[in-house]
Amino acid sequence: MAEKDYVQRYRERTPRSRELFERARRVMPGGVSHRYRHIPPYPFFIQEAQGARIRDVDGNEYIDLWMGHFALILGHRHPVVNEALREVAEVGLHWGVVHEYQVRFVELIQETVPCAEKVVLGVSGTEATMYAVRLARAYTGRRTILKAAGGWHGANSELAWYIRRPFEVPESAGLIQEMGRYVRPISFNDLDQTIRTMEEVGEDLAGVIVEPVMGAGGMIPAQPDYLEMLRQETQRRGALLIFDEIVTGYRLTLSGAQGAYGIVPDMATLGKVVGGGANLGVIAGKAEIFELCDPTISRKKGQGVMLGGGTFSSSPLSTIVGYRVVDYLRQHSSELYPRIDSMGERLRRGMEDAFRRHGLEGRTTGRGSLCGAYFPYDPTTRVKNPEEMQTLTDMEKVDHEFRMRLLNHGVFVMHGGGALSEAHTDEDVDRILAAVDAVAEEMATSGR
Ligand SMILES: Cc1ncc(COP(=O)(O)O)c(C=O)c1O
Repeated sequence: MAEKDYVQRYRERTPRSRELFERARRVMPGGVSHRYRHIPPYPFFIQEAQGARIRDVDGNEYIDLWMGHFALILGHRHPVVNEALREVAEVGLHWGVVHEYQVRFVELIQETVPCAEKVVLGVSGTEATMYAVRLARAYTGRRTILKAAGGWHGANSELAWYIRRPFEVPESAGLIQEMGRYVRPISFNDLDQTIRTMEEVGEDLAGVIVEPVMGAGGMIPAQPDYLEMLRQETQRRGALLIFDEIVTGYRLTLSGAQGAYGIVPDMATLGKVVGGGANLGVIAGKAEIFELCDPTISRKKGQGVMLGGGTFSSSPLSTIVGYRVVDYLRQHSSELYPRIDSMGERLRRGMEDAFRRHGLEGRTTGRGSLCGAYFPYDPTTRVKNPEEMQTLTDMEKVDHEFRMRLLNHGVFVMHGGGALSEAHTDEDVDRILAAVDAVAEEMATSGR
């Protein structure tokens, strides 16, 4: 089959990236260390980044909506981060011993995140969600965790289940099928199905982990009554509610989704924005739960929770950069969040207008500064969860054709959209919308 014109165009623009890809592929599986970073036929290689822009090794410039896996809420190389990095360079990158930077950072997290009576710092979101599940099981003395089908909580063996259809097939070779018995899928935003599953699990329900806006699942926000139901039902059943706020934390509001929805979970995991671009995973929650991993309390082996944190946990790098960025967000929250949210609103509305103008069946998802897009098979479809996204929409179209065509027009998207930052301007939104308009026209005419 002849290669699509937009793929040919991409190849013409990116010869040096292709060379680097061939080199990378010889030494790394598929040339990447994270599967999301493989963009068929090969990813472009970045040369430099500044503000809302990235430039690849062939000199192509893109408005970035991926923003470092949605982590960079201030944009690339923000002065506050650069200053924090200078501070890190003064004191050293890694100590492995406790220090005041850690205390001041955690105090700030506690002040801003409603559920954070106690906080533990780790090195990645994957690790944070794994520990949250372990704490929930230990605290309740129960085994089963419910997670939203299609939800991504990192690749740890506890939660790498029910991400892609068909859900009955394990996500990965090497996962032990029996472990999957103690993780059960629920349909996001489907109150009846979720309550039914809780009933089936009964006394063994340790907790429910859910993203208030499903990021990798398609940027789908929870309906408020869904989260309210989860809060009430978990409480009633003696189970824990865990918000995975790795995408929403410090993004929807200064107090994350907890602030946006007015719901306080028992535990929350944070990552991405909270590290300001440094590697960080945070677990926060009720003090009583965290007593289980308190090393100053003596217990018999097996009665406390082992929480490793990692060699690089609480490093000067993550605690100084994270603190500076969160502190900046606190000082500027009243202007910053309304501004990025209104750009997000304009982006979502403008994209839908562009699709409509060209007769392309396309919709957007998202909330605040988060935006996604999808192409339903049936024009009446409005997806409410990732299962619907995976069955009722053309995922290949959004993840491949739409993204590749937009790259050719100088815009880098993920899941059909991405995350806006303080560095994006109204003009950037105009330029993205102009690119979406051009792409919508190309897609509409190529499909005729
Ligand atoms: C909601 C959510 N949870 C957990 C993770 C895993 O975090 P990390 O990539 O830092 O391990 C991610 C990463 O994309 C995420 O989006």
